[in-house]
Amino acid sequence: MKSKIQQICEEILQEMKPDDKERTQVAQTVSNILNQLKKEVKKAGIDAHPELEGSIAHGTWISGERDIDIFILFPLNYPLDKVKTIGLELGKKASQGKWRERYAEHPFIEANIDGYRVDIVPCYKISKFSERVTSVDRTPLHTEYLSKSMKEDFKDEIILLKAFMKGIGVYGAEIRINGFSGYLCELLILHYGSFEKVLRNALRWKTQEAIDIERHYSDSETMKTIFAEPLILIDPIDPTRNAAAAVSGDRLGDLKGAAEAFLKDPSTRFFKPKLLEPLSANQLKALMKSRGTDTLFILIPSQKISPDVIWGELRKSLKAIKKLLDLNDFTAIGSDIWSDEEKEAIMAIELTSANLPSVKSHQGPAAGDPSQQKFLEKHLQNNKTLAGPWIKEGKWVVELKRDFTNAKDLVETKLREESPAAMGISKDVGAWVKEGGRVLLNEEVLPLCDANLSFAEFLTNYFKKLPTWVL
Ligand code: CTP
Ligand code: MG
Repeated sequence: MKSKIQQICEEILQEMKPDDKERTQVAQTVSNILNQLKKEVKKAGIDAHPELEGSIAHGTWISGERDIDIFILFPLNYPLDKVKTIGLELGKKASQGKWRERYAEHPFIEANIDGYRVDIVPCYKISKFSERVTSVDRTPLHTEYLSKSMKEDFKDEIILLKAFMKGIGVYGAEIRINGFSGYLCELLILHYGSFEKVLRNALRWKTQEAIDIERHYSDSETMKTIFAEPLILIDPIDPTRNAAAAVSGDRLGDLKGAAEAFLKDPSTRFFKPKLLEPLSANQLKALMKSRGTDTLFILIPSQKISPDVIWGELRKSLKAIKKLLDLNDFTAIGSDIWSDEEKEAIMAIELTSANLPSVKSHQGPAAGDPSQQKFLEKHLQNNKTLAGPWIKEGKWVVELKRDFTNAKDLVETKLREESPAAMGISKDVGAWVKEGGRVLLNEEVLPLCDANLSFAEFLTNYFKKLPTWVL
């Protein structure tokens, strides 16, 4: 008798494991691109080798995922700027005109070939991690390591684990997600042996669980002193790298919650989440009102820029704006960021209230302290002083008039100031805000929901906050 988990897994694999037709098609496209690149390399008389990497090379992609990773490996004696320029040039030539240049830690070409998204990435050919010049140099070593360690039946387990992670929203190491990369899923299966075992073990992970497949370290305490992240999985090909570094505490929690629920009551809904129906503008208005809070929205027209860079900048800038609000006594109880990664980004910050009274109390030295004279002088002359200074419970206190009593007013004013960078806003975000950014409060944002379904979904999710597998 098959267990319920086995039944579900079979059903999911039926749907999500690439069939022979898909494999042949992908292989054909890959071989065309590699041949094209090899021809270009030969023509240019360069000593470089194009190679397939990533989940297509490992045989671990989810059916329908149209993402091909091709790396061009250069010898270590080429200077880095040459690797970049020649590598990009080769990528463009092999892309049949449909490409754009992108940048993560390193520039690469994103091409559209036969309907696949093909990343063409120049890197160095290295034989051990210590020779690495850029972080992408590790990738060919990952492919080599996996081809040695991968058992055929691991591939199904990896597809299941990736599909589960995707379904519950924790798949991807990019800043937007801060979750589990494809390579990390592959390593977890290598270590634990099956999808089900990964979930069972994840439930037992302690804070800073440390996994070291190739036993580079003698004990986990050493790893914990080197790596600070909530989950540690030493990259088998590079002991100096935590392959789980991107995983945030929140995503780790999401995985544990879903793992417990799935193992108790297995269901395909973990792999195929229902989408939360976006609420209408009227429903959202009622929901916002019922919370009794005020939500600020900062609209940022953003140029087309690599998604990784944009999310990093938005996170940094959101943190700066929250700090500004905090310094001015506004209390944020939640925040999040939406972006279409092309034209527009919106930060949402929910406050206990967007309004504060004009008066604020400011504490001074203890009564009788030698510094009291200075305190008195300063505040007696201050035109912002509304009352006092006087002594309350043994301490000097003065009541001052606030600079800003309204959060929207505060954020608007500060964003328009000369240098938002001074308060920690990223340079690009600062510039974009000046080029047409807006600050909206509560229902002022609702017209945007009618025009933009993705933003309406984001807002619904923000106010509902339910994991999709609960729906
Ligand atoms: N990689 C990595 N760490 C990351 C992201 C990527 O080491 N955080 C490397 C891995 O060597 C990986 C390769 O880059 O195999 C390709 O990355 P990507 O396409 O993001 O992942 P895949 O493993 O190909 O998975 P997917 O099926 O999602 O494309
Ligand atoms: Mg890939």
